[in-house]
Amino acid sequence: SLPCDIYGAAGTPCVAAHSTTRALYAAYNGPLYQVQRASDSARTNIGLLAAGGYANAAAQDSFCAGTTCLITEIYDQSPRHNDLTIEGPGGAGGQDTGVPADALPVTAGGHQVYGASFSGRMGYRDNTTSGVAVNGQPEGMYMITSGTHVNDRCCFDYGNAETNNLDTGNGHMDALNFGTECWFQPCNGTGPWVQADLENGLFQSSAGGSQNTANTGTKFPFVTALLKNNGQNFFALKDGNAQSGSLRTTYSGPEPTTGSGYAPMHQEGAIVLGTGGDNSNGSIGSFFEGVMTAGLPTDAADNAVQANVVSVGYGGPTGTTGSLTAGSELSLRATTACCTGDYLRHQNDSAVISPVSSGSSTVDKSDATWIVRKGLADASCVSFESRNYPGDFLRHFNFKVQRQPMDGSAAFRADATFCPVAGKNGQGTSFRSYNYPTKYLRHYNFSVYIADTSGTNAWDSATSYNDDTSWVAGQPWAP
Ligand code: AHR
Ligand code: AHR
Repeated sequence: SLPCDIYGAAGTPCVAAHSTTRALYAAYNGPLYQVQRASDSARTNIGLLAAGGYANAAAQDSFCAGTTCLITEIYDQSPRHNDLTIEGPGGAGGQDTGVPADALPVTAGGHQVYGASFSGRMGYRDNTTSGVAVNGQPEGMYMITSGTHVNDRCCFDYGNAETNNLDTGNGHMDALNFGTECWFQPCNGTGPWVQADLENGLFQSSAGGSQNTANTGTKFPFVTALLKNNGQNFFALKDGNAQSGSLRTTYSGPEPTTGSGYAPMHQEGAIVLGTGGDNSNGSIGSFFEGVMTAGLPTDAADNAVQANVVSVGYGGPTGTTGSLTAGSELSLRATTACCTGDYLRHQNDSAVISPVSSGSSTVDKSDATWIVRKGLADASCVSFESRNYPGDFLRHFNFKVQRQPMDGSAAFRADATFCPVAGKNGQGTSFRSYNYPTKYLRHYNFSVYIADTSGTNAWDSATSYNDDTSWVAGQPWAP
C-alpha cells in the first residue's frame, strides 16, 4: 500500500496528496504536476510511468529540451482536487514564482525523477480547498523534505493556512515547518527542526522551542517530517530519516500556551507549500511528497507510511556507476603525480581534492561522490550533483569551484556545466567550462578552479596544467 491507501484504510483518508516524484495511491494514474517552458510558454502535464508508480521524468526532459521549465502546478492526487498553483501576493511577500523543474534531480524507486527545490520567493497555494480541516477539526500531515537545503528565514511550510494570504491570528494555521528558524529562543542545537507553524510561531512544543530538548534537529539528505493536531487540545511532531529506520516523536502533548487562539485551533483550510501563511517567502527548502488527512492518523498508520517511504529508496544509486552517462554515480580521481590518491570532493561548500580510500569516513566518501546529470545549460555536456546534498551542484564562481543549490538562473546553469573531452595528459577526462571555454576544471594547491594557462590568477599557472586538468572517472565512494 502507498501512503494514502494506508491512511485511508486507517479511517483518516487523504484530502491532499502532492508529489513530483511518485503516486501516493496504488491506483492513481493521473498527472503529478504541470510544467511551463520558457521558449514558447507552452505547458504540459507530467504523469506516471505506470499506475501507482513513479514520475515520467523523461517526458519533462523532452518537453523542456533546449529551454528551461518551471513547475506551474502540483496536482492533488486525492479525490478532493486540492491542486496547488503558484502563490500570489500576501501580507508579508509579493507574488511568488514556480520552482525550476530540473533543479532537484533524485532517484526514487530506481527511477530518475525531480523534487521541487525552493529558493526564496517561491511558493504554491490553494485557497479554495475541499475536505481540509477547518475551525478545530483534527488532521494529520507529512512531507518528505531535505535537511541539506534549509535556511533560517520564514517559513518553509506545507499544510493548512489562511485562505486570504494574510496573518489572521493565532491558530489560523496548522502546517509543517522545516528549517533553521528558531522562533522561540533558544532552540536545541542548530537544526534544521521539524516544527509546527500554528501562526505567529514555529512550535516545537506547547511552550515553543528550547523547552523541548527532544527536538535535536535532523540533517539527513532526505527527511520525513510529520505533524498531527486534533484541533482541540493535542498536537504531535515526528521526524525521521526518509532513507531508513523509523520515526521519532519529538513532541506529543497540549496545544501551545504561548498565547490564546491555539486551543481550540482556528484552521482556515487553505494549503500552502514553501512559504508562511502570510506568504513570508524568504525561506528555502526541498519537497518531494506530502499528504494531509481528514482526522487524526494513528501512530500505526504513520509507521506504515514511513516504512513505505523508506522502501522508495530516495536518493539511492541509479544502478549505473563510474561513467559519465547521466544518472551514473562516480568519483573523480586526480592524476597529477602529487595527488593520485586524491579525489574531487566538497568540503565546507568548496571543491577541493583530498585523499579518499576504503578506510575513509562515510562523510568523506559521500563528499567525494557525484551524480552525473545532463548539463544544466547544454544537455550534451554534464553537471555534477552532490550525492549527500541533493539539488546542490558543482559550479564555478569567480573561477573558484563550489557546491551550491541550483537556483534555476541562466548564470548558475552555465557555471555548473562542463563539457568532457579526452584527458589533456592522456589519462581520463578533462572538463571544459561551458561559459569559459578556454578554461578547464583544475586542481591547484588542493583547491579546485576553472583555469587556463593565459589567465592571471595563480591557478592559471602552466606548471602541471595538463595533469591538474585530467581526471579519472571511477566507482563512486559513497555506500
Ligand atoms: O507562524 C510563523 C509565521 O508568522 C507564519 O507562517 C506567517 O503567517 C507569520 O508571519
Ligand atoms: O593541487 C595540487 C597541486 O598544487 C597541483 O598539482 C599544482 O598545480 C599545485 O602546486
